[in-house]
Formats: sequence, structure tokens, C-alpha cells
Amino acid sequence: MTRARWVIGNWKQNLLRGPAEALARGLVGGLPDPLIDSDDKVKVGIAPGYMALDVVRPWCRPAGPLFLFAQDVGAQESGAFTGEVGPGMLIDAGVRGAIVGHSERRALFGESDAVVSRKLRCALDAGLRVVLCVGEPLEVRAAGDHEAHVLGQLAAALANLPEDSLNHRVIIAYEPVWAIGTGNTATPDDAAAMHGRIRSWLREHFGAAGSDRSILYGGSVKASNAAELIAAGDIDGFLVGGASLEQAAFLSIIQSVAGP
Ligand code: PGA
Repeated sequence: MTRARWVIGNWKQNLLRGPAEALARGLVGGLPDPLIDSDDKVKVGIAPGYMALDVVRPWCRPAGPLFLFAQDVGAQESGAFTGEVGPGMLIDAGVRGAIVGHSERRALFGESDAVVSRKLRCALDAGLRVVLCVGEPLEVRAAGDHEAHVLGQLAAALANLPEDSLNHRVIIAYEPVWAIGTGNTATPDDAAAMHGRIRSWLREHFGAAGSDRSILYGGSVKASNAAELIAAGDIDGFLVGGASLEQAAFLSIIQSVAGP
């Protein structure tokens, strides 16, 4: 099976509703024709802030070609959880998937592996896609413990899933923390090495399903480095922060993944 290729823009806490709608519209206008509605080349997702979900929805499936993601999701379906947005609410708003375990959620908002695991399970049970983010901080890489760290995060998030849950709705994103928003991208070799390790862990634990899951790279992906990263092998696309806010840069990254 050919793995799905994805480029997903994480807009973080940026863009009011007007600019968000304009960016989504511009992206759809700029997508090369063969990519529109094609599942085989590259799937394009956007993850705007919650308040802009409704204004970009007309450009997202089923009305348009983009896949609509949320940047986070609650760890429980509903109840007395002030401030939380549950998976059912997201689906009701037209959202198709959610990012879970982003390093900013882990580092700045205290999300533990246990919370990440609950969010992932809750989102999958509700029928959302999930982009599960894993990645090591700089000091962990400096100490040479990056593989153990990342595989530990994977195990904590996925180990308790029933075996048949690792289906096409699970997407993994390797995002070294030291590369996020810093301009320091992992070298293609470093990224490919970690992707290869994640791939073998997935195969070990989930058999054939582990071979079919998309593993995205994230961390200062730009128009200028996307082509060499995608050529490194075992990289099935990108989770893009800063460059996803610039229409031309994001379109160029999509083109690099789609190939000629
Ligand atoms: P960046 O962010 O592309 O701005 O480094 C990536 C991410 O946080 O997903």
C-alpha cells in the first residue's frame, strides 16, 4: 500500500477570522489542479484557531479540497470540563481531525503522556483523525537519548490502543522540539533516521498497520528545505507552523511533496 502523503498547516494562535478565511481561500485558489480532490498525490490540511473554524469550513471537505483539523481536543467526550472542546463539538463544527500532543501543549500547558494518550483515544473513538506529535528537547538529543525519548512518547500514547485502532486515521508527526519555530531544521539524515526508528517501532507493535501509517516531519519546514527533506526517505509529508501562514511558502511546500 502507498502511504498517504500529508501537508498540514498548524496556524497556532495566529490569524483573526478575516485573514484566516482569506488564507484558506488563497490556498485553494493556488493548489495545482491535479491536487484538487486527489487523494493519491498529497492531502492538504489546515489547523486554524477554534474561532476561525467556521469561516474556513467552506474551503474544506466536503465543500472544498482541504482537510480541517483542530490544534487540540479535549480528553473526554463531554461533561463538567470548563474551557475544553470535545471531539463531538469539533465534528459538529465540520472538523475532520485534531493535533494531539504538540510540544507546545506538552511544555507550556503541562500535558503529560497520560493526558496525550487519553486525548488520542477519545478523538479516535469519536471518529476524528489524529496527528500525534512526538519529539525530543535539545538536551535530550545532546545526551544521545532522543530515540528512547521519542519511542517512549509513542509507547505512552499508543500502547493501550486496541490493535485494530492504528488505522488510517492515525498520523504520526516527528517534531524535534529544538527545531520548532527556531529556524533550525533537522538534517535530512537525522530526520530520516528517526523516521526509520519510528517505523520499525510501529511495525513491531502493530504489524502491517504500522507499515501503512504516515509519518510527517515538523520543525522549521520551509519552501527552501522541503524538497531535500522529502527526498530523504521515510518522510511522508510535513506538519508546518510558521511557513503555513504564508500562502506562497505553504503552496511551494505542498508542491515539493506532490512532486513533479
Ligand atoms: P514551525 O512549527 O514550522 O514554525 O517550526 C512546526 C510546528 O509547531 O508544528
